[in-house]
Amino acid sequence: MKAINIRNKYLKFFENHGHKVIPSAPLIPENDPSVLFTTAGMQPLVPYLLGEKHPEGTRLTDYQKCVRTVDIDEVGDNRHLTYFEMLGNWSLGDYFKEESIKMSFEFLTKELGIPVEKLFVTVFKGDEDAPKDEESAKIWEKVGMPKDHIYYFGKDDNWWIAGEEGPCGPDTEMFYDTGKEACSENCDPSCGCGKYVEIWNNVFMEYYKSKDGTYSKLKQRNVDTGLGLERMAMLLQGKETPYDTEIFAPIMEELKNLAKSDDISSRRIVAEHLRCSIMIISDGGRPSNVDRGYILRRLIRRMTRHLNKLQIDLNELSNLIDLNIDVLKEMYPELEKNREEIKKVLIEEKDKFIKTLANGEREFEKVILRLKKENQTKIDGQIVFHLYDTYGFPPEVTSDLAKEQGFTIDMENFQKLYKEHQEKSRMGSEQKFKGGLADQSPETICYHTATHLLNAALKIVINKDVHQKGSNITPERMRFDFSCDHKLTDEEKKKVEDLVNEWIKQALPVTVQEMKKEDAIKSGAECMFIEKYPDIVTVYSIGNVSKELCGGPHVKNTSELGTFKIQKEEASSAGVRRIKAILIK
Ligand code: SER
Repeated sequence: MKAINIRNKYLKFFENHGHKVIPSAPLIPENDPSVLFTTAGMQPLVPYLLGEKHPEGTRLTDYQKCVRTVDIDEVGDNRHLTYFEMLGNWSLGDYFKEESIKMSFEFLTKELGIPVEKLFVTVFKGDEDAPKDEESAKIWEKVGMPKDHIYYFGKDDNWWIAGEEGPCGPDTEMFYDTGKEACSENCDPSCGCGKYVEIWNNVFMEYYKSKDGTYSKLKQRNVDTGLGLERMAMLLQGKETPYDTEIFAPIMEELKNLAKSDDISSRRIVAEHLRCSIMIISDGGRPSNVDRGYILRRLIRRMTRHLNKLQIDLNELSNLIDLNIDVLKEMYPELEKNREEIKKVLIEEKDKFIKTLANGEREFEKVILRLKKENQTKIDGQIVFHLYDTYGFPPEVTSDLAKEQGFTIDMENFQKLYKEHQEKSRMGSEQKFKGGLADQSPETICYHTATHLLNAALKIVINKDVHQKGSNITPERMRFDFSCDHKLTDEEKKKVEDLVNEWIKQALPVTVQEMKKEDAIKSGAECMFIEKYPDIVTVYSIGNVSKELCGGPHVKNTSELGTFKIQKEEASSAGVRRIKAILIK
């Protein structure tokens, strides 16, 4: 079964079971703060899992575009992907374990036709925070899962939370037995040998984990499920890797035709990173040196390096992008509309990287000259790391060039420094994930409302075509990205600041309304990604100065905000400016 058919079957199935199909949120979280990318279907739904009313009701389903980059360096093997699609269904205080498990079992066995013998499940074995989930195990048995296909595991395997703080709970995971030989007597679904592949995760979200590590009960009991589409397609098609499915096969084939050296891992890296970059750019991401822009930059650089490694002419990139979009557009029709822009961004970035490589080479030559003068024959790992970190110069290129010059390099020290660096950025992304999802502190909510005022003020001071391109909020400050082709003058900045403060002083009420999306747009409501919104939307109005489609939450009155102060205005990426601002109370 093709991936798109699995997706359609899934959405239809849950629609027939009373769920509303909602659109995928963009990969780049709107108004969400501090998260790099959307990493799970539940992420855009956090306010509703915490108790806000969703305009489409209590049963939702969607496909969600996701990017997870913690395993970026594993891509190239037979399973890791940075971009993937997650199918999900949610109960927001509606059904719970029984109906959820029943539906999953029915979907897997009846709709997808997976024989029960191939299915294994795991449930939470209980600890001091939450009891053993015998209820789920019993339901599994009742629906027809053989008892010896049900395993109990602890928090490491059967508990789900995004980051450190937030809504969470025990989960039940479903596995597909590939039929491979067991790796040992103890091989079970928790084993990573590849015999059992996780296909679906149903989280019974009834707890909230606080910063201090304690658990409390949520206002409502939710179900949050996630099914990885590429993986399911691979299994149902009897393929060994996602690269053998129709999602990647045409591009893998083309890379094989073009390559002068055969390296399957490089071909996978190119195919995977190209798809991920295309999806990020299509959703508004642009390469830069920080945060998500930097991830995109890394993806494009790594892809370019592997194109080089395969000895593929870099001018082929344009055709490869076209081919990739042709393959993906049935699943993501928005790609057609963004085709030219995607090509422009990718090719420009590739060209920039070629220059970077040239700069790195020059720097390398300087280093060699110095080392030769000092009669050394070994390049320290610190230097390799510096070339990598500052010039983006890949260590394997340093290694090749060093060899040509009769030098050895201390890769061990490089690896050590690199690991430390990776650990830091991993911690950084987890931090971001955590902040973005769970933080609904009064400070954050104030900043959220301030972004709406700022958006409205910019439209008046600069021009009405200014649009929000992103935002990032912490309890201490806000960042706001917007389309604008020039650096703001001091006078413009002052006017914007004064206007926002004037509206704060006027103590404007913040009101929320539910309406049809088309009516909201007609009424002139501002909206960043039109495709993202379901048919019924919530619209937040601030007095009569601002009206935006938004999930909230917001303050009740602008008088709660304090004094608005712009701290910095700078370029974010081409045609996009960034304002950093604070609220002083
Ligand atoms: N949030 C859970 C996950 O990402 C289920 O969707 O696995």
